[in-house]
Amino acid sequence: MATAAATSKTPVLTPEIRKEIEAYLPRYPTKQAVTLPALHIVNDHLRCVPMGAIPEIAEILELSPAQVYDTLTFYGFFKHTPCGKVRAWVCRSISCALRGGEEVLSAMSDKLGVRPGETTEDGRVTLEFGECLGVCDFAPAMLAGDEVYKNMSVDQVSHVVSQLQSQADRAAD
Ligand code: FES
Repeated sequence: MATAAATSKTPVLTPEIRKEIEAYLPRYPTKQAVTLPALHIVNDHLRCVPMGAIPEIAEILELSPAQVYDTLTFYGFFKHTPCGKVRAWVCRSISCALRGGEEVLSAMSDKLGVRPGETTEDGRVTLEFGECLGVCDFAPAMLAGDEVYKNMSVDQVSHVVSQLQSQADRAAD
């Protein structure tokens, strides 16, 4: 039998998030097809997809939680705990790797004090490995927020990290 605590649990999805997900339903042939957009909506709002959100998304889409979880875990993009306000993806695919991408990533890691996949203690920046960003002509490259940083070098890292921190400070909570 469910306990009172379990039944009175605060929902993870706010009414605003639920409304945004539901707005996608008429655009797709099936509710299941809304799984990925729903995960992105939750991620945009919460900077992660908490485990508690999975059954709630499943209920909206009339799926089992396992179906939502399968989609979520297929993509390395989604995390269960909040990412930094800015997520920086340093490309490690071939063109960037050949042109110093690994060194840039390592310098970013040192400057931020985190390893790839981790978030700085102040919650401002999450550093990530990225795969080809489609700008190989400008390798090595990095994507942070909506901005692509091209022709990166180790010398630029301090400046770039300051830019990311300012970007995080400007971002809404
Ligand atoms: S390999 Fe890095 S952008 Fe294509």
